[in-house]
Amino acid sequence: MAEVVLTELCKSYEKGRETVHNLNLTVHDKEFMVLVGPSGCGKSTTLRMIAGLEEITSGTISIGGQVVNKLLPKDRDVAMVFQNYALYPHKTVRENLAFSLKLRKTPKEEIARRVAEAAEMLGLNDYLDRLPKQLSGGQRQRVAVGRAIVRNPAVFLFDEPLSNLDAKMRSEMRTELLRLHQRLQCTMIYVTHDQVEAMTMGDRICVMKDGEIQQTAPPMEVYEHPANQFVAGFIGSPPMNFFQGRILVCEGKATCELPGWTFPVQQASCNKGNVIVGIRPEHFELDAPDGLHATIEIIEHLGGESLLRMASPAGELVAKTSQKVAKKPGDSVILSVAPENLRFFTP
Ligand SMILES: Nc1ncnc2c1ncn2[C@@H]1O[C@H](COP(=O)(O)OP(=O)(O)OP(=O)(O)O)[C@@H](O)[C@H]1O
Ligand SMILES: [Mg+2]
Repeated sequence: MAEVVLTELCKSYEKGRETVHNLNLTVHDKEFMVLVGPSGCGKSTTLRMIAGLEEITSGTISIGGQVVNKLLPKDRDVAMVFQNYALYPHKTVRENLAFSLKLRKTPKEEIARRVAEAAEMLGLNDYLDRLPKQLSGGQRQRVAVGRAIVRNPAVFLFDEPLSNLDAKMRSEMRTELLRLHQRLQCTMIYVTHDQVEAMTMGDRICVMKDGEIQQTAPPMEVYEHPANQFVAGFIGSPPMNFFQGRILVCEGKATCELPGWTFPVQQASCNKGNVIVGIRPEHFELDAPDGLHATIEIIEHLGGESLLRMASPAGELVAKTSQKVAKKPGDSVILSVAPENLRFFTP
């Protein structure tokens, strides 16, 4: 069992300024949890506190039911993989993989067995006698992951491990890490600022902003029911469109007014007064009989789908469609949205 529980976890690097504020998060045993958020929101700080590389200011961290606040990193049964790989440049791949086990005075045969196992899992067999500088970025990242695997930790911590790789390699390594997670059946906490990684990899994702958790939920739940406007805008690409509007209630009927478009809404779904209306690009119906009049400015064909960037009285917007687009820039369209695809946020 290696559940990781953060309780009221705080971190201030300087007096009076909290970098991580009152985090409460339970990562279940064997769960793949992704911490995602913009640069500087405190993801690495949180991960490093779990690893024991950073002192905590207050709160508790427990791993597998044991409070580890005071334990040294080596006694926490966690292994961390860093963005910059942190390999020993003058050691071969084999020596890099074996190093932490040697330090622990693990018997030679055991080291050889674990190194061989990790190398096999990661496809590193042909590179064991090379130095890091003789490897590609992807291979180096595999060695970094291998160094964590040989230790057989209860919890893996990854800090943006794929951000130095090109797009194709990144997508391959994503799949590989997920396969590894299935095979090893252990708890993994994965930090990224890439929302695609978060969506595709996490059993659950925890969205952070300014040192605070905004929402923790399975990816699709975050996507479909974002807790607030920040989450709605951060998860999804292209991002959700936002419009400033007003909810009016007249004779028991609620309507939402945007510049150039008024439509009925369920009163229960929003409060009276000013609102932000959120609409995902794929939720626009083009050529509706009635709705928001917009003019196409740019069409981007992405292969299976197209993005249409438009101007409208309610503001600039982007729509996404998987249908063949027979329109061109300058054409007018009438947009509408199914009521269940409207999201409302407090300004
Ligand atoms: N050792 C330190 N001393 C003082 N401030 C620090 C230290 N490390 C990080 N910070 C500050 O704490 C905040 C959070 O940093 P952190 O590295 O946790 O962010 P992050 O979410 O990992 O961002 P990124 O996506 O850019 O890696 C930042 O404002 C950063 O400048
Ligand atoms: Mg970071």
